[in-house]
Amino acid sequence: MTMIGNLTRRTVVSWQKKALGQRIPLTTMTQNTLKDDHGCQILMSPSLVSLDLPDVWPPNSTDFRFRLAKTQSNEHIAAVINGQLIAEEIRSRIASEVRRMEEFIGKVPGLAVIVVGQRRDSQTYVRNKIIACEEVGIMSKVTKLPDDCTEDEILTALSGFNVDPSVHGILVQLPLPRHLDVGRISDVLSLEKDVDGFHPLNIGNLAMRGREPLFIPCTPKGCIELLIRSGIEIMGKKAVVIGRSNIVGLPASLLLQRHHATVSAVHVFTKNPEHITHDADIVIAAAGVPNLVRGNWLKPGAVVVDVGTNPIEDPSCEHGYRLIGDVCYDEAVRVASAITPVPGGVGPMTIAMLLSNTLDAAKRAYNFT
Ligand SMILES: NC(=O)c1ccc[n+]([C@@H]2O[C@H](COP(=O)([O-])OP(=O)(O)OC[C@H]3O[C@@H](n4cnc5c(N)ncnc54)[C@H](OP(=O)(O)O)[C@@H]3O)[C@@H](O)[C@H]2O)c1
Repeated sequence: MTMIGNLTRRTVVSWQKKALGQRIPLTTMTQNTLKDDHGCQILMSPSLVSLDLPDVWPPNSTDFRFRLAKTQSNEHIAAVINGQLIAEEIRSRIASEVRRMEEFIGKVPGLAVIVVGQRRDSQTYVRNKIIACEEVGIMSKVTKLPDDCTEDEILTALSGFNVDPSVHGILVQLPLPRHLDVGRISDVLSLEKDVDGFHPLNIGNLAMRGREPLFIPCTPKGCIELLIRSGIEIMGKKAVVIGRSNIVGLPASLLLQRHHATVSAVHVFTKNPEHITHDADIVIAAAGVPNLVRGNWLKPGAVVVDVGTNPIEDPSCEHGYRLIGDVCYDEAVRVASAITPVPGGVGPMTIAMLLSNTLDAAKRAYNFT
């Protein structure tokens, strides 16, 4: 299989960005190239750690479809988009930005996490986020509340972090117990510290042309970064997003539209989802249904981003289960031109995007560029 993720920095380009209703020349950005196992160079996105979302990303000179790998028996096999490697590169860049910030202004970014209850998956996600913060030098604080806590207790913790100057990003680990109103909680969260990007104003600004959200939700942002950094052109392509949740599917659709794809959203009530999916050049699967997307759902050469993270029992694994995606990998890998694995695809990118959003928040708070 072809692995993507061997990163080298190359050219410098500039572009224009629509900001505050005007086209203004923006900064000179560094653009990167990837080299795959065949030595092909692929353009990457501009450096992260900024909110820059140009209207049009620089088009790619290389069409991904022409670089399909073949097995020894001449069977087609998709390139694997290595989210782990790409996320590591991003995290190392964030770490050096945090060091630069500390050196110049004596401050580091801070992330506050509120976690409610004892769900094992939530505890694991929070632990991983805290470790990731430590690794890049971001300060973190965690407030743990019991399963039966009241909404007011969460709002009190949230309000404290809202006014804490050492905290630049706040996240409330989801899902919350049923008796708590997520909407009311995200309404109270300071817009400037909404590093998960779930505040209605951030989502609203993401949806509107000519507007910039302060933050983009981490998982969809990670999906788009994976596409761009793998040299996959989005502009003008047909994309299908399976799932329309507020935290993944909906913002993923909005982001793809921002990148000028023609987007269809598939959900529980969609008739003939396989037919609609089969038309897509890019498929983002975020339904939470193991192996929902079969090989025959995919157009040959499609690019597949599998967000699904579904635990299935497996006594041979250390914890008695393993994670599989929403896409039937073994079938899809024979049809797609590129695919993200589960685990090791979108998951590591989600955490990298959280760190990136937290760094952005701190830079904005200190007016540090
Ligand atoms: N890798 C990561 O970092 C990461 C981060 C977040 C989530 N995830 C994973 O991504 C998956 C989705 O997460 P989520 O929070 O978006 O889940 P969610 O809130 O349960 O939303 C699932 C969405 O999928 C749609 N859906 C469910 N079954 C479907 C089916 N059979 N056919 C078509 N659409 C279907 C639902 O449609 P309706 O709207 O019609 O109900 C809904 O919009 C989960 O496996 C989750 O664990 C991974």
